[in-house]
Amino acid sequence: MTALAKTIGENVNLRYWGEDGSYFQAWYPICLSEQLPEGKILGVDFLNSRVIAYRDKDGKAIVQSAWCPHLGADISFGEMVEGEVRCPYHHWRFNAAGVCSHIPVLGRGMNNATIKNYPVAERWGLIWAFNGKEPFGEFPTLIGVTEEDVIWRTTDLGTMNVESWILNTNAVDFQHLKAVHNWPHSEDGCNFKVDETTLAFDFALAHPTGAGKLFYQNSFSMRDLQPFPPGHFVMPTMLSPRPNFQQSYCVLAVLKPKDAADLPAAHKRLDELDAFLRNLNREDERVVESMRFRTRGDAKLIKSDRGLSIMLDFLDKLPRARPLD
Ligand code: FES
Ligand SMILES: [Fe+2]
Repeated sequence: MTALAKTIGENVNLRYWGEDGSYFQAWYPICLSEQLPEGKILGVDFLNSRVIAYRDKDGKAIVQSAWCPHLGADISFGEMVEGEVRCPYHHWRFNAAGVCSHIPVLGRGMNNATIKNYPVAERWGLIWAFNGKEPFGEFPTLIGVTEEDVIWRTTDLGTMNVESWILNTNAVDFQHLKAVHNWPHSEDGCNFKVDETTLAFDFALAHPTGAGKLFYQNSFSMRDLQPFPPGHFVMPTMLSPRPNFQQSYCVLAVLKPKDAADLPAAHKRLDELDAFLRNLNREDERVVESMRFRTRGDAKLIKSDRGLSIMLDFLDKLPRARPLD
């Protein structure tokens, strides 16, 4: 039994960390784009392992396993040399394709010494990596708009000692929306729609255009929530560095005003949305960080938990994989 498997056995919250170290396949936010200037190697804990992120000579973001194939040093403590990463231990160098391009004592590279490359995207002010060799499913995005339609910003919402999927059950847990946040929403008429990697629904009592869409388990896109007037969009998205811990970022957007004179008001609305999301997290924090989440077969679900029940079924089918160490 691995150390991780032992932890799982001791904590029911960790049901979705497989005993073999596998975890949900998803696009995960690795860092804000602005945290990755050219020339920097960023080390990021990822799915109970670790990755490095940097930009190649064209400025394209690269995410690779952090562990050097020679003896396993953490390459994030190395340096960028001529657009390649150099391990801090014996100065082996690796190119953007992950191949060892130079070993000082040999005076050449070694094609069969490699670090794994993750599929990478840079969108909505974030660097994203997919947990798997080939990405599948719909890329996380705002509901019903493109970047051209909105003014937007992406913020760092901080960390919480809870699994990202547990925090995200919040959005379909309509009993708690009333009890904890005093929202009037109900699950009636939500029209849940599920496919392999998304769970979409309408917020019946929000604005007529109110809607939510979960991408994989960690990006929860929502539009037109009370108490704000319609025309706004939020998408909290979470990285899972290790069991029972998550780092949240949030894309915030409002429809682009037709008149430039309305821009300051639009930016003020983004500030308000940011404060609103932070407050929701604060209201949830003590409960979700301390709970032992009960899942299918263990939870005493009632009719009003229909959204939760659909999400638990969705999670059960969501493919999982080990990080590409
Ligand atoms: S451990 Fe990286 S070069 Fe030796
Ligand atoms: Fe909540």
